Amino acid sequence: MKIIEANGARIPALGLGTYTLKDETCVRLVAQGIEDGYRHIDTARMYGNEAEVGKGIAASGIDRGEIFLTTKVWWTDLSAEAFADSARAAVDAIGLGPVDLLLIHWPNRDVPLEETIEALNAALEQGLTRAIGVANFTAPMLDEAAALSPAPLACNQVEYHPFLSQESILGACRRHGMAMIAYSPIGQGGELLAHPVIAGIAATRGRTPAQIVLRWELEQDIVGAIPRTSNPARLKENLDVFDFELTEEEHKAITALTTKRQRLVDPAFAPNWDRI
Ligand SMILES: NC(=O)c1ccc[n+]([C@@H]2O[C@H](COP(=O)([O-])OP(=O)(O)OC[C@H]3O[C@@H](n4cnc5c(N)ncnc54)[C@H](OP(=O)(O)O)[C@@H]3O)[C@@H](O)[C@H]2O)c1
Repeated sequence: MKIIEANGARIPALGLGTYTLKDETCVRLVAQGIEDGYRHIDTARMYGNEAEVGKGIAASGIDRGEIFLTTKVWWTDLSAEAFADSARAAVDAIGLGPVDLLLIHWPNRDVPLEETIEALNAALEQGLTRAIGVANFTAPMLDEAAALSPAPLACNQVEYHPFLSQESILGACRRHGMAMIAYSPIGQGGELLAHPVIAGIAATRGRTPAQIVLRWELEQDIVGAIPRTSNPARLKENLDVFDFELTEEEHKAITALTTKRQRLVDPAFAPNWDRI
């Protein structure tokens, strides 16, 4: 497994996304995923499944210390007081002690960034998390957050796949020694996986389209990916991407698709995205 060293955090590059996984399905999938070899799990306050993620980790039989667990505070809870309450509630819900990485889920232009970054650092100092970071921050916002934060930020989690270039954010993450964690890394299982370039490489290499896309992401030094599946058979498929390499031409052909700039996650409260 590739590990990304990011300002003191050691992030297993491939993680399991858990958005929409609920109840027993979530417990079972997380436990099964860990048994299959996942060592990084991604949840959030907003997913409403932190307790089930905690139960799944406990049920896996693998030491908590071997799992890298991320959760996130929702954008409506970014004032100092709300953030503190939410971070504490997350840790209580998971029930396994501190998390490995606590993220601001989305920026909120109505709360001064300085206040939220201070609250994020306070959660670190209180031992609720071992590392801190952000999600859905643009490159200029990331520069601002890095300048404001006394403790270094470990990552920016953003949408990233072969239909969406993130050059500006990759550059900003590199400047600050941070990882860039790709969400919706297989394009939510849609059109991307059927694209002739992806499907063609998959056929040539005897791999699935999802494996080709994940491999392209993981071949980029500071990039990690957190694909989600509710299908136990696909857990292994999405993890099985460490025993082959794309040729330079294959990698470049996939990178060329990123100019399409097809964004799948763009809620009304999203920031003004980077143009490249
Ligand atoms: N920070 C944020 O704001 C943010 C936003 C969005 C997502 N996320 C995180 O990122 C994770 C992943 O993103 P995502 O859930 O949006 O999308 P994704 O992982 O790109 O795609 C998930 C979809 O792809 C399908 N799928 C999974 N493996 C497949 C395979 N091997 N072949 C074909 N289809 C496959 C799944 O269906 P089946 O279940 O049927 O397999 C599911 O419908 C989330 O779960 C969440 O943890 C974070």
